[in-house]
Amino acid sequence: MFVLLAAAFPACILAAQERPNGQEEFRTYCASCHGISGRGNGIMAELLVKKPADLTVLAKNNGGRFPQDKVIATIDGRVEVAGHGAREMPVWGKIFRSDHEATNSAVSAEDRILALAYYIRSIQQR
Ligand code: HEC
Repeated sequence: MFVLLAAAFPACILAAQERPNGQEEFRTYCASCHGISGRGNGIMAELLVKKPADLTVLAKNNGGRFPQDKVIATIDGRVEVAGHGAREMPVWGKIFRSDHEATNSAVSAEDRILALAYYIRSIQQR
């Protein structure tokens, strides 16, 4: 029994660590401009000439369908957004780049991006 538990628990802990939390990623890398609620009212917003987009109306503005591919492409840099800085060095650094050798992180850039996209999908207004 003990052997079984000892074998099973580290696996659970590892699994929990490896799954990125989209809300956390959002708060860390996006909320300064887009706001905690995603409505574009982050603390940086009033300092920017171009206002951050309201990320809760992406589906609404796209005929009710969340534009997931576009959101993913915006985060990985395939779609450039002036407010995010240069593609090679976006305002959030290299964290969402697949060639980023994340220090002591077992989480891949792809998983982070997907978790973030799912989170943004979850805050869409109906
Ligand atoms: C330095 C401020 C800043 C940060 C940080 C930031 N954004 Fe933005 N974002 C903007 C601005 C400004 C725009 C509007 C730019 C435009 O319309 O050209 C924008 C636009 C967008 C759009 C396009 C919305 C549309 O209508 O098509 C998406 C998607 C987006 N941001 C996602 C994110 C995500 C995800 C993060 C975090 C990884 C993030 N942004 C971090 C400033 C920021």
